Amino acid sequence: MMNIDVHVREVGLRDGLQMTSTFMPTADKLAWIAAEFAAGVREIEVTSFVPPRLIPQFGDAEEVVRGAMALPGLNVVALIPNLKGAERGFALGVPKLDYVVSVSRTHNLRNVRREREASMEDFARIVAARDAAGLKGRVTLASGLSTALGCSYEGRIAVDEVRRCAAELAAMGADEIMIADTLGYATPTQVREVFKAVLAETGSIPVAAHFHDTRGTGLANVAAALDCGIRHFDASLGGLGGCPHAPGASGNIVMEDLVFLLEGMGLKTGVDLTRLLAVREIPARALGAGALSGALARAGLPTGFVPA
Ligand code: COA
Ligand code: ZN
Repeated sequence: MMNIDVHVREVGLRDGLQMTSTFMPTADKLAWIAAEFAAGVREIEVTSFVPPRLIPQFGDAEEVVRGAMALPGLNVVALIPNLKGAERGFALGVPKLDYVVSVSRTHNLRNVRREREASMEDFARIVAARDAAGLKGRVTLASGLSTALGCSYEGRIAVDEVRRCAAELAAMGADEIMIADTLGYATPTQVREVFKAVLAETGSIPVAAHFHDTRGTGLANVAAALDCGIRHFDASLGGLGGCPHAPGASGNIVMEDLVFLLEGMGLKTGVDLTRLLAVREIPARALGAGALSGALARAGLPTGFVPA
């Protein structure tokens, strides 16, 4: 197997599609997943186990997960907001579930309709339920910390709050922690401060970065996180993304641009950029070409570009 320096994870099928009013047909979702996997992306968050009544886009969650799990070697991830979502994941044997808590108390209340403490307690129940079902070692439980770098309701978020939340999740047995700049507020200086604080609490578990490019700082923040030793990044094809309960949120960092940055810096991602660029056609067909952004797609690869 090719050695990878930096792990990139596609989240457009979850973070991107939760914002779109057009339902993307299940077959198109599966075609997107298969094509991006074939381009070399090894981890994809394919859906969200939320009530379909709330986000109809994920009404086909079970079908999408089953289809994605048929691709050998793909690490399939689904977002879960609560124990009920986790149980849906356990029933299917989804290899990785991505829980979500917001550091901002207001955002947590709006997003998952309960206090942050209640969300934290639910995570402990989810870990216990997984272990009781004999799925420890087979189902990875990651947890995201949303609004960790700023919130549209609360503004600045204290670094100490992020540090405490990360420490709590690690103590409860999170297998991975993802730090999210949900609103795209962060600058590299803040990224360094927050990731250093988090890394001091999380021991050997991977810490991933989830950046939105709402204010154009996304890739600069990636460079800052790399300096801190972060080697796991979320991104979405064509920069699709946003949060339905965070006013002003827009797209994730663009997967194609992220891979270009990393490969250009000599860091292997395992992703073939030419094939990756071609995948855009699938969401563009379903959502309209205007839904996708991206600098590399606009400008093309530099003449003589050599990947890592
Ligand atoms: N999957 C499917 N159904 C679920 C569910 C899940 N994960 N969680 C709850 N439900 C069902 C319950 O069984 C209940 O059904 P019933 O009315 O038939 O009995 C109903 O939904 C209400 O359950 P409740 O626990 O009261 O949920 P809620 O209405 O307080 O909503 C969340 C809480 C967490 C489910 C909801 O706020 C949510 O999905 N938020 C996520 C938002 C999101 O995706 N944000 C973007 C990602 S960061
Ligand atoms: Zn996001």
